[in-house]
Amino acid sequence: MQSRRTFLSTTGSAAALLAMAPWNSAARADNATAADQSTTALATRVIPSTGERIPVIGMGTSGSFEVGENTPEYEALKDVLKIFVTGGGTLIDTAPTYSNAEDVLGALLAEQNLRPKTWLATKLSGVRGREDGLAQFNSTLKRLKTDKVELLQVHNLGDLETQLALARELKAEGKTRYVGVTHYVEGAQDRLADIVEKEKPDFLQINYSVVTRGAEKRVLPLARDLGVAVLINRAFEDGKLFSRVKDTPLPDWAAEAGISSWAQAFLKFALSQPAVTAVIPATGKPNRQADNLKAGTGPDLTEAQRASLISVFA
Ligand SMILES: NC(=O)c1ccc[n+]([C@@H]2O[C@H](COP(=O)([O-])OP(=O)(O)OC[C@H]3O[C@@H](n4cnc5c(N)ncnc54)[C@H](OP(=O)(O)O)[C@@H]3O)[C@@H](O)[C@H]2O)c1
Repeated sequence: MQSRRTFLSTTGSAAALLAMAPWNSAARADNATAADQSTTALATRVIPSTGERIPVIGMGTSGSFEVGENTPEYEALKDVLKIFVTGGGTLIDTAPTYSNAEDVLGALLAEQNLRPKTWLATKLSGVRGREDGLAQFNSTLKRLKTDKVELLQVHNLGDLETQLALARELKAEGKTRYVGVTHYVEGAQDRLADIVEKEKPDFLQINYSVVTRGAEKRVLPLARDLGVAVLINRAFEDGKLFSRVKDTPLPDWAAEAGISSWAQAFLKFALSQPAVTAVIPATGKPNRQADNLKAGTGPDLTEAQRASLISVFA
Protein backbone atom coordinates (compact mmCIF):
# COMPACT_ATOMS: atom_id res chain seq x y z
CA MET A 1 0.00 0.00 0.00
CA GLN A 2 1.21 3.54 -0.75
CA SER A 3 2.24 5.53 2.30
CA ARG A 4 0.49 8.86 2.89
CA ARG A 5 3.70 10.69 2.10
CA THR A 6 4.32 8.85 -1.17
CA PHE A 7 0.72 9.42 -2.15
CA LEU A 8 0.94 13.15 -1.43
CA SER A 9 4.12 13.56 -3.39
CA THR A 10 2.77 11.78 -6.44
CA THR A 11 -0.70 13.26 -6.73
CA GLY A 12 -1.65 16.80 -7.63
CA SER A 13 -5.32 16.33 -6.85
CA ALA A 14 -6.63 18.82 -4.30
CA ALA A 15 -9.64 16.60 -3.61
CA ALA A 16 -7.39 13.66 -2.79
CA LEU A 17 -5.13 15.81 -0.64
CA LEU A 18 -8.06 17.29 1.20
CA ALA A 19 -9.67 13.91 1.80
CA MET A 20 -6.49 12.66 3.44
CA ALA A 21 -5.75 15.79 5.40
CA PRO A 22 -5.85 15.15 9.15
CA TRP A 23 -7.10 18.68 9.76
CA ASN A 24 -9.98 18.35 7.29
CA SER A 25 -12.76 19.95 9.29
CA ALA A 26 -15.57 17.73 8.02
CA ALA A 27 -13.58 14.61 8.81
CA ARG A 28 -12.78 16.01 12.26
CA ALA A 29 -16.37 16.78 13.04
CA ASP A 30 -17.53 13.34 11.92
CA ASN A 31 -14.80 11.08 13.19
CA ALA A 32 -12.42 12.59 15.66
CA THR A 33 -12.56 12.67 19.42
CA ALA A 34 -11.87 15.92 21.26
CA ALA A 35 -8.38 14.64 22.09
CA ASP A 36 -7.63 13.92 18.42
CA GLN A 37 -8.71 17.43 17.47
CA SER A 38 -6.23 19.03 19.84
CA THR A 39 -3.36 17.33 18.00
CA THR A 40 -4.63 17.69 14.43
CA ALA A 41 -6.15 21.19 14.30
CA LEU A 42 -3.91 23.98 13.00
CA ALA A 43 -2.58 25.80 16.06
CA THR A 44 -3.10 29.53 16.55
CA ARG A 45 -1.11 32.13 18.48
CA VAL A 46 -1.99 35.50 19.92
CA ILE A 47 -1.13 38.88 18.39
CA PRO A 48 0.03 40.66 21.54
CA SER A 49 -1.22 44.14 20.60
CA THR A 50 -4.87 43.02 20.37
CA GLY A 51 -5.25 39.45 21.65
CA GLU A 52 -6.54 38.28 18.24
CA ARG A 53 -5.34 34.77 17.33
CA ILE A 54 -3.92 33.77 13.94
CA PRO A 55 -2.90 30.33 12.62
CA VAL A 56 0.81 29.54 13.01
CA ILE A 57 1.20 28.45 9.38
CA GLY A 58 0.78 31.27 6.89
CA MET A 59 1.99 31.43 3.31
CA GLY A 60 4.31 33.64 1.29
CA THR A 61 3.85 34.64 -2.34
CA SER A 62 7.35 35.64 -3.44
CA GLY A 63 8.20 33.55 -6.50
CA SER A 64 5.30 31.15 -6.04
CA PHE A 65 2.60 33.68 -7.09
CA GLU A 66 4.71 35.41 -9.72
CA VAL A 67 3.24 33.33 -12.56
CA GLY A 68 1.42 34.00 -15.81
CA GLU A 69 -2.34 33.54 -16.10
CA ASN A 70 -3.52 30.35 -17.83
CA THR A 71 -0.28 28.53 -17.11
CA PRO A 72 -0.07 25.16 -15.29
CA GLU A 73 1.54 27.04 -12.36
CA TYR A 74 -1.46 29.38 -12.16
CA GLU A 75 -3.85 26.42 -12.18
CA ALA A 76 -1.86 24.73 -9.40
CA LEU A 77 -2.16 27.86 -7.25
CA LYS A 78 -5.94 27.39 -7.17
CA ASP A 79 -5.38 24.13 -5.28
CA VAL A 80 -2.58 25.64 -3.19
CA LEU A 81 -5.06 28.23 -1.93
CA LYS A 82 -7.94 25.79 -1.53
CA ILE A 83 -5.81 23.44 0.55
CA PHE A 84 -4.48 26.32 2.62
CA VAL A 85 -7.89 27.71 3.53
CA THR A 86 -9.54 24.32 4.03
CA GLY A 87 -6.64 23.39 6.29
CA GLY A 88 -7.38 26.38 8.51
CA GLY A 89 -4.77 28.79 7.07
CA THR A 90 -5.62 32.48 6.79
CA LEU A 91 -2.41 34.59 6.76
CA ILE A 92 -1.00 35.34 3.30
CA ASP A 93 2.02 37.61 2.89
CA THR A 94 2.65 39.50 -0.33
CA ALA A 95 4.15 42.77 -1.61
CA PRO A 96 3.53 45.18 -4.50
CA THR A 97 7.12 44.59 -5.65
CA TYR A 98 6.77 40.79 -6.08
CA SER A 99 6.13 41.48 -9.80
CA ASN A 100 2.52 40.33 -10.47
CA ALA A 101 1.98 38.35 -7.20
CA GLU A 102 -0.62 40.76 -5.82
CA ASP A 103 -2.60 40.58 -9.10
CA VAL A 104 -2.53 36.78 -9.14
CA LEU A 105 -3.45 36.54 -5.46
CA GLY A 106 -6.29 39.05 -5.87
CA ALA A 107 -7.67 37.24 -8.92
CA LEU A 108 -7.54 33.80 -7.31
CA LEU A 109 -9.10 34.97 -4.03
CA ALA A 110 -11.93 36.66 -5.93
CA GLU A 111 -12.49 33.64 -8.18
CA GLN A 112 -12.88 31.28 -5.19
CA ASN A 113 -14.56 33.93 -3.00
CA LEU A 114 -11.83 33.40 -0.41
CA ARG A 115 -11.08 36.97 0.62
CA PRO A 116 -13.42 36.78 3.67
CA LYS A 117 -11.52 33.72 4.90
CA THR A 118 -8.06 35.24 4.56
CA TRP A 119 -5.85 37.57 6.58
CA LEU A 120 -3.80 39.61 4.14
CA ALA A 121 -0.39 41.10 4.85
CA THR A 122 1.25 43.34 2.27
CA LYS A 123 3.88 46.06 2.21
CA LEU A 124 4.86 49.59 1.35
CA SER A 125 7.80 48.71 -0.80
CA GLY A 126 10.53 50.53 -2.68
CA VAL A 127 8.75 53.90 -2.53
CA ARG A 128 9.91 57.28 -1.22
CA GLY A 129 7.63 59.96 0.18
CA ARG A 130 4.07 59.91 1.47
CA GLU A 131 2.36 60.52 -1.86
CA ASP A 132 4.13 57.66 -3.63
CA GLY A 133 3.49 55.36 -0.67
CA LEU A 134 -0.21 56.22 -0.68
CA ALA A 135 -0.47 55.74 -4.45
CA GLN A 136 1.21 52.35 -4.12
CA PHE A 137 -1.14 51.29 -1.31
CA ASN A 138 -4.23 52.33 -3.29
CA SER A 139 -2.95 50.34 -6.24
CA THR A 140 -2.34 47.35 -3.93
CA LEU A 141 -5.97 47.44 -2.78
CA LYS A 142 -7.11 47.35 -6.42
CA ARG A 143 -4.72 44.54 -7.27
CA LEU A 144 -5.83 42.47 -4.27
CA LYS A 145 -9.49 43.35 -5.03
CA THR A 146 -10.15 44.45 -1.47
CA ASP A 147 -10.86 47.68 0.40
CA LYS A 148 -8.51 47.01 3.32
CA VAL A 149 -5.79 44.65 4.46
CA GLU A 150 -5.03 43.13 7.83
CA LEU A 151 -1.33 44.05 8.01
CA LEU A 152 0.68 46.75 6.23
CA GLN A 153 4.46 46.41 6.61
CA VAL A 154 7.32 48.72 5.70
CA HIS A 155 9.43 46.51 3.43
CA ASN A 156 13.14 46.18 4.17
CA LEU A 157 12.97 49.34 6.30
CA GLY A 158 12.90 51.53 3.16
CA ASP A 159 12.09 55.24 3.75
CA LEU A 160 11.13 54.03 7.20
CA GLU A 161 10.01 57.16 9.00
CA THR A 162 7.69 58.39 6.26
CA GLN A 163 6.28 54.98 5.32
CA LEU A 164 5.68 53.93 8.93
CA ALA A 165 3.87 57.21 9.57
CA LEU A 166 1.75 56.52 6.47
CA ALA A 167 1.00 52.96 7.59
CA ARG A 168 -0.15 54.33 10.95
CA GLU A 169 -2.31 56.93 9.23
CA LEU A 170 -3.92 54.15 7.18
CA LYS A 171 -4.43 52.12 10.34
CA ALA A 172 -6.25 55.06 11.94
CA GLU A 173 -8.50 55.20 8.84
CA GLY A 174 -9.30 51.47 9.09
CA LYS A 175 -7.45 50.59 5.86
CA THR A 176 -5.16 48.22 7.74
CA ARG A 177 -5.65 46.67 11.16
CA TYR A 178 -1.96 46.32 12.01
CA VAL A 179 1.36 47.89 11.02
CA GLY A 180 4.74 46.19 10.82
CA VAL A 181 8.33 46.33 9.61
CA THR A 182 10.19 43.63 7.66
CA HIS A 183 13.64 42.50 6.61
CA TYR A 184 15.09 39.35 5.11
CA VAL A 185 18.78 39.27 6.16
CA GLU A 186 20.50 39.05 9.53
CA GLY A 187 22.71 42.06 8.81
CA ALA A 188 19.66 44.31 9.25
CA GLN A 189 18.46 42.85 12.53
CA ASP A 190 20.30 45.24 14.85
CA ARG A 191 18.75 48.20 13.07
CA LEU A 192 15.42 46.40 13.12
CA ALA A 193 15.75 45.84 16.87
CA ASP A 194 16.46 49.56 17.43
CA ILE A 195 13.36 50.43 15.42
CA VAL A 196 11.20 47.92 17.27
CA GLU A 197 12.40 49.35 20.58
CA LYS A 198 11.57 52.91 19.50
CA GLU A 199 8.41 52.38 17.47
CA LYS A 200 6.79 49.26 18.98
CA PRO A 201 4.99 48.23 15.76
CA ASP A 202 2.28 45.54 15.97
CA PHE A 203 4.39 43.14 13.88
CA LEU A 204 7.90 42.52 12.71
CA GLN A 205 8.90 40.09 9.97
CA ILE A 206 12.39 38.59 9.90
CA ASN A 207 14.37 35.67 8.53
CA TYR A 208 15.08 32.78 10.88
CA SER A 209 15.90 29.14 10.19
CA VAL A 210 17.74 26.16 11.62
CA VAL A 211 20.96 27.49 10.04
CA THR A 212 20.34 31.25 10.48
CA ARG A 213 19.66 31.83 14.14
CA GLY A 214 20.99 35.35 14.78
CA ALA A 215 17.51 36.59 15.69
CA GLU A 216 17.74 34.61 18.93
CA LYS A 217 20.28 37.10 20.30
CA ARG A 218 18.31 40.31 20.39
CA VAL A 219 15.29 40.62 18.11
CA LEU A 220 13.22 37.66 19.32
CA PRO A 221 13.67 38.33 23.06
CA LEU A 222 12.94 42.01 22.46
CA ALA A 223 9.77 41.25 20.53
CA ARG A 224 8.62 39.02 23.35
CA ASP A 225 9.35 41.64 26.01
CA LEU A 226 7.63 44.43 24.09
CA GLY A 227 4.65 42.39 22.89
CA VAL A 228 5.40 42.61 19.16
CA ALA A 229 4.08 39.77 16.95
CA VAL A 230 6.72 38.04 14.79
CA LEU A 231 6.40 36.55 11.30
CA ILE A 232 9.23 34.38 10.01
CA ASN A 233 10.28 34.46 6.36
CA ARG A 234 12.84 32.19 4.64
CA ALA A 235 12.49 29.29 7.12
CA PHE A 236 13.63 27.03 4.24
CA GLU A 237 16.45 29.43 3.25
CA ASP A 238 14.56 29.99 -0.02
CA GLY A 239 14.39 26.19 -0.49
CA LYS A 240 18.16 25.64 -0.17
CA LEU A 241 17.81 23.58 3.03
CA PHE A 242 16.15 20.75 1.13
CA SER A 243 19.19 19.98 -1.02
CA ARG A 244 21.30 19.83 2.15
CA VAL A 245 19.17 17.03 3.64
CA LYS A 246 18.24 15.14 0.51
CA ASP A 247 20.19 12.02 1.51
CA THR A 248 19.62 12.43 5.26
CA PRO A 249 16.87 10.46 7.01
CA LEU A 250 14.58 12.32 9.40
CA PRO A 251 15.75 12.18 13.04
CA ASP A 252 14.58 9.08 14.90
CA TRP A 253 12.38 11.24 17.18
CA ALA A 254 10.51 12.79 14.22
CA ALA A 255 7.36 10.65 14.49
CA GLU A 256 6.92 11.37 18.20
CA ALA A 257 7.14 15.10 17.37
CA GLY A 258 4.45 14.61 14.69
CA ILE A 259 6.96 15.24 11.87
CA SER A 260 6.86 13.30 8.61
CA SER A 261 8.97 15.56 6.35
CA TRP A 262 11.97 17.87 6.49
CA ALA A 263 9.71 20.82 5.64
CA GLN A 264 7.71 20.18 8.81
CA ALA A 265 10.92 19.89 10.83
CA PHE A 266 12.19 23.26 9.53
CA LEU A 267 8.87 25.02 10.16
CA LYS A 268 8.50 23.48 13.63
CA PHE A 269 12.02 24.63 14.39
CA ALA A 270 11.03 28.27 13.73
CA LEU A 271 7.76 27.86 15.62
CA SER A 272 9.54 26.46 18.65
CA GLN A 273 10.70 30.00 19.43
CA PRO A 274 8.01 31.34 21.79
CA ALA A 275 8.28 34.88 20.38
CA VAL A 276 7.28 33.63 16.91
CA THR A 277 3.64 34.13 15.98
CA ALA A 278 3.59 32.48 12.52
CA VAL A 279 5.80 31.25 9.66
CA ILE A 280 5.07 32.12 6.03
CA PRO A 281 6.59 29.42 3.76
CA ALA A 282 6.02 29.90 0.03
CA THR A 283 5.10 27.13 -2.38
CA GLY A 284 3.38 26.81 -5.72
CA LYS A 285 2.74 23.09 -5.25
CA PRO A 286 -0.46 21.71 -3.68
CA ASN A 287 1.21 18.66 -2.10
CA ARG A 288 3.82 20.91 -0.48
CA GLN A 289 1.12 23.21 0.87
CA ALA A 290 -0.49 20.19 2.56
CA ASP A 291 2.92 19.19 3.88
CA ASN A 292 3.65 22.67 5.29
CA LEU A 293 0.29 22.90 7.03
CA LYS A 294 1.04 19.75 9.00
CA ALA A 295 3.84 21.61 10.79
CA GLY A 296 1.16 23.61 12.57
CA THR A 297 -0.27 20.55 14.32
CA GLY A 298 0.97 18.32 17.11
CA PRO A 299 3.50 19.02 19.84
CA ASP A 300 6.15 21.76 19.88
CA LEU A 301 9.82 20.74 19.65
CA THR A 302 11.76 20.20 22.86
CA GLU A 303 15.16 21.83 23.44
CA ALA A 304 16.81 18.46 22.74
CA GLN A 305 14.95 18.12 19.44
CA ARG A 306 15.97 21.67 18.44
CA ALA A 307 19.60 20.85 19.24
CA SER A 308 19.36 17.63 17.24
CA LEU A 309 18.14 19.55 14.16
CA ILE A 310 20.93 22.12 14.52
CA SER A 311 23.49 19.28 14.70
CA VAL A 312 22.34 17.96 11.30
CA PHE A 313 23.87 21.10 9.75
CA ALA A 314 26.94 21.39 12.01
N1 LIG B 1 11.92 41.35 3.15
C1 LIG B 1 10.86 40.66 3.22
O1 LIG B 1 9.89 41.13 3.74
C2 LIG B 1 10.82 39.26 2.69
C3 LIG B 1 11.94 38.68 2.12
C4 LIG B 1 11.88 37.37 1.72
C5 LIG B 1 10.65 36.69 1.85
N2 LIG B 1 9.56 37.29 2.35
C6 LIG B 1 8.25 36.60 2.50
O2 LIG B 1 8.48 35.32 3.08
C7 LIG B 1 7.98 34.30 2.22
C8 LIG B 1 8.82 33.05 2.39
O3 LIG B 1 10.14 33.27 2.02
P1 LIG B 1 10.76 32.70 0.67
O4 LIG B 1 9.67 32.42 -0.30
O5 LIG B 1 11.83 33.65 0.27
O6 LIG B 1 11.50 31.37 1.09
P2 LIG B 1 11.15 29.99 1.81
O7 LIG B 1 9.73 29.93 2.26
O8 LIG B 1 12.27 29.77 2.77
O9 LIG B 1 11.38 28.93 0.63
C9 LIG B 1 10.56 28.84 -0.48
C10 LIG B 1 11.08 27.70 -1.34
O10 LIG B 1 10.85 26.44 -0.67
C11 LIG B 1 10.20 25.52 -1.55
N3 LIG B 1 9.24 24.77 -0.74
C12 LIG B 1 8.14 25.26 -0.09
N4 LIG B 1 7.52 24.28 0.61
C13 LIG B 1 8.23 23.13 0.41
C14 LIG B 1 8.09 21.79 0.86
N5 LIG B 1 7.10 21.43 1.68
N6 LIG B 1 9.00 20.87 0.42
C15 LIG B 1 10.00 21.23 -0.40
N7 LIG B 1 10.20 22.49 -0.87
C16 LIG B 1 9.32 23.44 -0.47
C17 LIG B 1 9.54 26.37 -2.60
O11 LIG B 1 9.53 25.73 -3.85
P3 LIG B 1 8.13 25.40 -4.64
O12 LIG B 1 7.39 26.68 -4.84
O13 LIG B 1 8.63 24.78 -5.89
O14 LIG B 1 7.40 24.44 -3.74
C18 LIG B 1 10.45 27.60 -2.68
O15 LIG B 1 11.49 27.36 -3.60
C19 LIG B 1 8.05 34.96 0.84
O16 LIG B 1 7.25 34.30 -0.09
C20 LIG B 1 7.58 36.35 1.15
O17 LIG B 1 6.17 36.39 1.28
C21 LIG B 1 9.63 38.56 2.81
